[in-house]
Amino acid sequence: MTQIEILPVLRERNSSIAFDPSKTVSEDDMQALLEAARWAPSGSNGQPWRWMIARRGTPEFDGIWNVLMPGNQGWTKFAPVLMIAAAQTSYTRPDGTKQLNRTAFYDAGLANMSLAAEATRRGLNLRMMGGFKLDEARKLMPEGVEPICVIALGATNDGSHLPEDMRARISAPRQRKSISEFVIA
Ligand SMILES: Cc1cc2nc3c(=O)[nH]c(=O)nc-3n(C[C@H](O)[C@H](O)[C@H](O)COP(=O)(O)O)c2cc1C
Repeated sequence: MTQIEILPVLRERNSSIAFDPSKTVSEDDMQALLEAARWAPSGSNGQPWRWMIARRGTPEFDGIWNVLMPGNQGWTKFAPVLMIAAAQTSYTRPDGTKQLNRTAFYDAGLANMSLAAEATRRGLNLRMMGGFKLDEARKLMPEGVEPICVIALGATNDGSHLPEDMRARISAPRQRKSISEFVIA
């Protein structure tokens, strides 16, 4: 992990697949995560982020789980909460015409990172997933709201409830580029 001192939640955040199905996410924690997200910056303060949130054991949870690619379904069925992170991709001008909000996904990403940081602080973990069926997810969204990621959220455990091939992913080393690889000279 990092050799340079950084904010503890940034150091500690990671994406697990080992969600403990016996632990729920309290309503207080859920509200705090959304409150953290709410204070994210956004272009023209447009706040285009949107979430659909569902708890395990509800038809809404099954609806989100069904849009996931098979590779993400095996472990997400144990997640206490599934969310669709989405964004309203256009503004409506006073005259009723629509204008593309070209920073909508960026803004939503910032809000989701705030949400992840608060989750980490509260001992929760989340994993974002781009592996979902976009056309199916769009059907769950209101008009003009574009799904970006499905998010699994909850407390984690040792993953002993998962099959062997999935357990191997939990202990895999985390890799990162060096700083010099992404700073443009
Ligand atoms: C936009 C996005 C899409 C991702 N899609 C998937 C996915 O479909 N399935 C999955 O298991 N992980 C997915 N991940 C998790 C990444 O693999 C993970 O963040 C990355 O390997 C870095 O690991 P870390 O979050 O533990 O630092 C996604 C993450 C992001 C931000």
